[in-house]
Amino acid sequence: MHDALVALRNAATPPEVFRRMAVRISLLLAAEATRDLPSEAITVKTPLAAADGKRVAADVVVVPVLRAGLGMLDAVLELIPAARVGHIGLQRDEITAVASQYYAKLPRGLEESVVLMIDPMLATGGSAVAALDLLKRAGARDVRLICIVAAPEGVALVERSHPRVRIYTPAIDRELNAHKFIVPGLGDFGDRLYGTV
Ligand code: PRP
Ligand code: URA
Repeated sequence: MHDALVALRNAATPPEVFRRMAVRISLLLAAEATRDLPSEAITVKTPLAAADGKRVAADVVVVPVLRAGLGMLDAVLELIPAARVGHIGLQRDEITAVASQYYAKLPRGLEESVVLMIDPMLATGGSAVAALDLLKRAGARDVRLICIVAAPEGVALVERSHPRVRIYTPAIDRELNAHKFIVPGLGDFGDRLYGTV
């Protein structure tokens, strides 16, 4: 996990390696966030005998927050291929850092689902709270937020606004700078993922 995080933080990491590291760390975080999902017993036949096993018995919905969250989606689907996917598009204003919504498409019936909201950066927390508000209005009750780097301000805002949401992150960094970027952070995740710097 931490080797991938260091590669993501390193300003010299090119987009192709950045994408690979984002997938690697997302897979590990998603495994952590889904550790307690309900499962059911199954039996399969190996070439030699019957073998008992388990499979996930929950409706899982993955919700990437566009655009940067898309860099984590393939990893989560690798782990839970049957998951349904919703999308929420949010854009932080470059001057005010206030997030505004430009897109949302969510699957129906979120009440009984385990929702994995994926957004690599939790900075002021404004985007996360806007997305969580939307998910709550759509009926979601069990929401887990997976992010790669968080700031103390963002964690505090989410905990205050949505105390039942569990946050999974490998790093809570020092602070936000004057432009509301996480320090030390890793820069603009979406720009580094897609080479739009
Ligand atoms: C980034 C990031 C979060 C948000 C975090 O997205 O992916 O959604 O900023 O900041 P906040 O906690 O202060 O709201 P951005 O709005 O830059 O959009 P992008 O993913 O399309 O680049
Ligand atoms: N969004 C990013 O991509 N990085 C930050 O540090 C803050 C918001």
